Amino acid sequence: MLHFITLVCRLSVCVFRRSVLVAGLGFCMVYSVAADDIAVSEQTFDCILGWPKIRNTRIKNSDPEQLKEAMRIFRDSIPDREYPVGTILQLLPFEAMVKHPRETFPKTNGWEFFALDVSEAGTKIKDRGDNVVNLSLGVPCLSCHQPAARFDFVCEKGHGCAPIPLDDQKIAELQGADPRCSKK
Ligand code: HEC
Repeated sequence: MLHFITLVCRLSVCVFRRSVLVAGLGFCMVYSVAADDIAVSEQTFDCILGWPKIRNTRIKNSDPEQLKEAMRIFRDSIPDREYPVGTILQLLPFEAMVKHPRETFPKTNGWEFFALDVSEAGTKIKDRGDNVVNLSLGVPCLSCHQPAARFDFVCEKGHGCAPIPLDDQKIAELQGADPRCSKK
């Protein structure tokens, strides 16, 4: 009996060690993905009036060097150049594009589209991924942004995308009405 218990104990130590090893490996893998990619949650989004703006678009990246690089690519409309991972673009408070590594969303070169519900309480993610549909137009984000593939799917004006039914003044008004911004 004693022998049997010792055997079970040895086995369980062995199993325990192996699971520690597996857990350790798993942790390393998760950690290395997290180091290269951006983890997006509802807290990622906030009042866009605090973000730098180029023409109509608000741009964010938590790394100041990468933010500078993203702003340069956008401002100069540089073709065939990828935005740095972690870049967030918003034209309207309730829609966003977030840049992941290319392999994460191969169809969009790494961009993830977001449809957001915004209120004074904050941001709720309504839909995300590379198949998000703009509900008011009934059109997938990608179908309009696809023609701008040479500009890393950034439409702006003049990159070949079908226009949205909002002029610059209306876009500015919608940004100014972002309910997440504290009222002065
Ligand atoms: C009808 C076509 C169309 C659809 C559908 C569309 N977009 Fe766009 N999007 C545009 C155009 C055109 C611009 C540039 C507008 C400007 O700067 O005046 C733009 C701009 C943007 C920008 C600012 C960066 C850029 O590409 O210029 C973001 C972010 C964006 N759209 C996200 C989305 C998301 C998310 C969806 C889906 C929920 C979506 N769009 C659906 C046409 C579209």
